[in-house]
Amino acid sequence: MNSATPPASPGTEAVTDQIARHETAPASSTPPGSAEPDAPETALRVDGLFKVFGRRADDAVTALREGASRDELGSGTTAAVIDASFEVRRGEIFVVMGLSGSGKSTLIRMLNGLLEATAGTVTVGDEPITGIPAKRLRTLRRERISMVFQHFALLPHRAVIDNVAYGLEIQGMPKAQRLERARTTTELVGLGGWEDKLPSELSGGMKQRVGLARALAADTEILLMDEAFSALDPLIRREMQEQLLELQSALGKTIVFITHDLNEAMFLGDRIAVMRDGRIVQIGTPEDILTDPANDYVEQFVADVDRARVLTAGSVMEPATPTVGSGSGPRAALRAMRDARTAAAFVVDRDRKLVGTIADRAALRLLQKGEQRITSAVNPEVASCDTETALIELFVPAAESPLPLAVTDERERLVGVLPRITLLAALGGGAMATGEITIDQPLPAEVVEEALAAPGPARDGEESA
Ligand SMILES: Nc1ncnc2c1ncn2[C@@H]1O[C@H](COP(=O)(O)OP(=O)(O)OP(=O)(O)O)[C@@H](O)[C@H]1O
Ligand SMILES: [Mg+2]
Repeated sequence: MNSATPPASPGTEAVTDQIARHETAPASSTPPGSAEPDAPETALRVDGLFKVFGRRADDAVTALREGASRDELGSGTTAAVIDASFEVRRGEIFVVMGLSGSGKSTLIRMLNGLLEATAGTVTVGDEPITGIPAKRLRTLRRERISMVFQHFALLPHRAVIDNVAYGLEIQGMPKAQRLERARTTTELVGLGGWEDKLPSELSGGMKQRVGLARALAADTEILLMDEAFSALDPLIRREMQEQLLELQSALGKTIVFITHDLNEAMFLGDRIAVMRDGRIVQIGTPEDILTDPANDYVEQFVADVDRARVLTAGSVMEPATPTVGSGSGPRAALRAMRDARTAAAFVVDRDRKLVGTIADRAALRLLQKGEQRITSAVNPEVASCDTETALIELFVPAAESPLPLAVTDERERLVGVLPRITLLAALGGGAMATGEITIDQPLPAEVVEEALAAPGPARDGEESA
């Protein structure tokens, strides 16, 4: 077990390769894609954004800025978005989450200028989109931001392929070229072979794939998705979420994804903005939001979250003790285990790379035999996972392993351990530091003391790491 990434469905890799090549090909009218090397780190920026519907909108903004609450504005005036500010980084999936009516759709519609902001600014890359002429706005939408809608918005009398190619047709792309591009993205979303069907012949999940393929065909750097998967039943929905993550890692799009489903938000989001009554009340990574909710509203929201899918080994692990260097002698190893009151120790090399484990009994035998090094008794079979692994994947290995799971970083260095009890505590949101690190019973103290006190044939070279 190594990584938490869902397995790619067969063929996806080949197709993503294909589209990656396709996108970087020096085609004549290719709009700016996602792979500009010198593009700014921030894909999208929102500063002090307001949307007030109804009468005297500007006065309402002034009042809100001065601290008025949404309810004080009077009937006929609705503050849908209040003073929103955030940045979306390139290649990030930024999720906006909140209850119905909290202002999510209003916010996302201002991001591509479908709705005009009452106050504040939206900037795409380094280009402002608030207050620009309608024609420029249309070009920008075509070239830089596309949108996937909840209810698919397919043209009923056109085949799948023509629905996917529709946006390109509007742009005036020649037929052969747009059909080729549409074919590639149709395949990319798993609809190869369905190109000539009509929308009425497709299931909900397939229709949504067409919507996604259409947005991808536009080859914009930013995708906006408003409740795009909410109309799908749970299994299909999960499949779509996994596919979106795959596509995102293959194509590197910047995605703003709206949902009122917290599990979906946590699964997809690199960062999540939580909205309440028009205001963003917290922005953070899924783990930030889960472990450190900004207020009661967020706390209530996260109460139902499947923590095992959100929390990762790296976020709940404990210090890896005891750890001994692979060049240590049995005396040092035994001493380290005695001090930590454990029956085994993790063994690492000079670069702190995990090599295996050594048991106290094995170290004792070596010591009694007068061995200088622990090398011969190191057990290389050690259950480990990387820091990014979700807890849900760790229950079986933890149950099967007599020792705590070893947690390693991207360079396979030992960075922590995960005892079963820590794993359990993390699910309940309780205190995670347990101090318990061993499952096997350590050797009786007197046995160890006696062995350590006995005059050894030679002193160990190295102490524990
Ligand atoms: N065109 C409009 N005119 C007047 N009020 C509107 C308009 N659009 C939205 N609103 C109001 O703005 C608020 C936010 O609506 P919005 O659609 O952005 O919420 P949402 O978070 O997307 O909700 P949902 O989860 O139900 O889609 C609501 O109170 C809504 O009634
Ligand atoms: Mg909405």
